Amino acid sequence: MSLRITVIGTGYLGATHAACMAELGFEVLGLDTDPKKVEQLSAGVLPFHEPGLPDLLRKHTSTGRLRFTSSYEEAGAWGDVHFIAVGTPQKAGDHAADMTYVDNATVSLAKSITKDALIVGKSTVPVGTARRLQELVNSVKTDSLNVELMWNPEFLREGYAVRDTLTPDRLVVGGGSADAVATLRQVYASALSTDTPFITTDLETAELVKVAANAFLATKISFINAFAEVTEHVGGDIRVLADAIGLDQRIGRRFLNAGVGFGGGCLPKDIRALQARVSELGLDRTMRFLSEVDEINLRRRERVVHLATELLGELDGRTITVLGVAFKPNSDDVRDSPALDVAAQLYSAGAEVSIYDPEAMNNARSRFPRLKYAESLEAALQGSHLTILLTEWQEFSALEPQDLEPLVESKAIIDGRNVLNPDTWTDRGWRFESLGRRSVPALATSNSLS
Ligand code: UGA
Repeated sequence: MSLRITVIGTGYLGATHAACMAELGFEVLGLDTDPKKVEQLSAGVLPFHEPGLPDLLRKHTSTGRLRFTSSYEEAGAWGDVHFIAVGTPQKAGDHAADMTYVDNATVSLAKSITKDALIVGKSTVPVGTARRLQELVNSVKTDSLNVELMWNPEFLREGYAVRDTLTPDRLVVGGGSADAVATLRQVYASALSTDTPFITTDLETAELVKVAANAFLATKISFINAFAEVTEHVGGDIRVLADAIGLDQRIGRRFLNAGVGFGGGCLPKDIRALQARVSELGLDRTMRFLSEVDEINLRRRERVVHLATELLGELDGRTITVLGVAFKPNSDDVRDSPALDVAAQLYSAGAEVSIYDPEAMNNARSRFPRLKYAESLEAALQGSHLTILLTEWQEFSALEPQDLEPLVESKAIIDGRNVLNPDTWTDRGWRFESLGRRSVPALATSNSLS
């Protein structure tokens, strides 16, 4: 009989995983304690923006292969493999991760399981969590049942979540007996048939692989942004620098795009939670460099505000258009978004901020209701003294000065993502600023000197 899969938690990670498991042919039951989410998802409505996911959701809810519930009893009695995909947000006022959701989900599930089953954690957790959870499971489950716990971190990117889930670049599985590993091989048979690396290891390594990957990506971004601070000072072009070092295959060009920095629900909180966890373990110095990574990242936001102040003389009473508030393109997520943070800082400094984003307006509005949310790109640009591009949506990267000139009050722009061509703008009389690109006068050659 085919495996029955449950997915506990139906946020970005869980909803994607549930729909993709259904796409792979499994019967799937998604569980969320929020009845509104369950209702929406059951009706085939995705409560967030993720390309390709609405189609999968509709396709599989309409046949009944994918269902949603709020009942742990139902999930525990029905499922063979239970994926835990609830959030581990940063604790309020603390760098550590808030484990309440993972703990509650695991215990509620384990108490409700009525047949032998496998619990597979996917959430990003501090090292040591899985071992602790296995003990919790053992203490609440029905004695006669075999309930194993494994860790199988998720590496999907928002915006590419479906692709990353259906065709991951690697699968990492921690803990579990040989039978449990074999069951997960069955779950991932499709990816394994195309030789996707399947790495089996212990629980701790599996937990650490995930945070190590995100810490490395965050470090790579801050590394190039630190050099952007230097090129801003001495002159130079950070994009050329990134291209040149990126050609060294040991370094690689990806995640070397300098700009206003990283945000989202993962990288910022994961580097903080990792530092908090290793400090708890007594390794205070080990991950200290990550606080520099965090600081470099946050300084990029200040830099944009500084450039805006330089361009406008003062911010008070000036109209500024902010293009993009999602933490990255192809997403409506504004969690820890550098763009939204900059918009809020400009507003606090007295500017009238007019925002446009193709997808993230509703999420931004619920966080910062006082900012002005324009109905269209044109409306956002109307009468603007300064335009700032902060999320590199394709429609912003493709903008030409001529598109803006009939609308704006002043020809001044900051490219916070290094996606525009400075010459195109300065040739038409625009004042153009970016992060990490400052032109320097060409050196006189010996011929020209003679
Ligand atoms: C990140 C990881 O890339 C995924 O592998 C991981 O599974 C996920 O976190 C997670 O832990 O769930 P995501 O948060 O979707 O995925 O976003 P990324 O594509 O990693 O981008 C993160 C931030 O870095 C964005 O704000 C983006 O604009 C910024 N970034 C990215 C740069 O500033 N420069 C770059 O060169 C690349």
